[in-house]
Amino acid sequence: MNKLLKEKSNLNINLNKTELIVEIKKLCKQRNAIILAHYYQEADIQDIADFVGDSLQLSQQAAKTQADIIVFAGVNFMAETAKILSPSKTVLLPDLKAGCSLSDSCNEVDFKEFLKLYPNHTVISYVNTTAKIKALTDIICTSSNALGIVNSLPISEKILFAPDRNLGSYIKSITGRDMIIWDGACHVHDRFSLEKIVKLKSEFDDAKIIAHPECDKTILVISDFIGSTSALLGYVQSNASTSFIVCTESGILHQMKLAMPHKTFIPAPPNDSTCACNDCQFMKLITLEKIYMSLKYNKFEINLDEDIRAKAEIPIRRMLAISEKLGFK
Ligand code: 13P
Ligand code: SF4
Repeated sequence: MNKLLKEKSNLNINLNKTELIVEIKKLCKQRNAIILAHYYQEADIQDIADFVGDSLQLSQQAAKTQADIIVFAGVNFMAETAKILSPSKTVLLPDLKAGCSLSDSCNEVDFKEFLKLYPNHTVISYVNTTAKIKALTDIICTSSNALGIVNSLPISEKILFAPDRNLGSYIKSITGRDMIIWDGACHVHDRFSLEKIVKLKSEFDDAKIIAHPECDKTILVISDFIGSTSALLGYVQSNASTSFIVCTESGILHQMKLAMPHKTFIPAPPNDSTCACNDCQFMKLITLEKIYMSLKYNKFEINLDEDIRAKAEIPIRRMLAISEKLGFK
């Protein structure tokens, strides 16, 4: 992982930040391109993006954009999802090493074997999966709509949920549904330190603890609010508290501070680092320099086998249709 971070910015581009931003905007205009950025991106990238959002919102944008080129400031499965939904468009991921530990925790061969053990189950997979896993899935979900998707199925239906064990267990605990859950996790959300969070809470006793459902159960049970990145962002705006201990990737703090500059946001610390916050090294591989190179030289184009793409599109479209009915915009 450290090797990845070292490689982060070795592009030798002779432009300062302001010039880089001007050039990126110029290229976007010339090429009819848009930049879609996840909330976990660096602040500078969120600031220049055409749209910043969570996984669901980004897939909705990818499905409806009129642009010819989508530059994904995010990770591989997000760019793949955009390509699945917009196959005629050029989809660019500025660094192909921007993967996802959660997506990596579910490979096609093992997943096929797992599915054989549970016939007659409806397969719900988190969007944090490869196109090949999506192609084996009945309905995709994200952290925003997982509860709604599960509840949209008849109570008699048996569910196989993959790949996040924490999100799956959380949904199972609140719905009481018959759910088999794949044993995968995100290395960022799974490593928050309960001990350090409890200590922070004793120092900031008015602070609300807010957590993403990809966090371990030990963190979720002490949280005042659990939700996707966009739900956490909404909560800090609607809740009267003025301080929050935020248990998700630290990139979201940028939008929280922009929306509520008078409030205090404390990033929850991980258990295995000297750093006070918790970053996704894959998300943070994307830089302004790489976005510039991406737009200038089509780096790096996402292409998918058409058979896989077409199969993967079906469960994503089902998710988008259910989400629209449920009022997720
Ligand atoms: P959401 O954007 O759905 O909150 O998911 C968080 C995440 O881990 C994306 O990688
Ligand atoms: Fe994947 Fe976790 Fe990074 Fe999200 S935060 S991209 S789930 S590794």
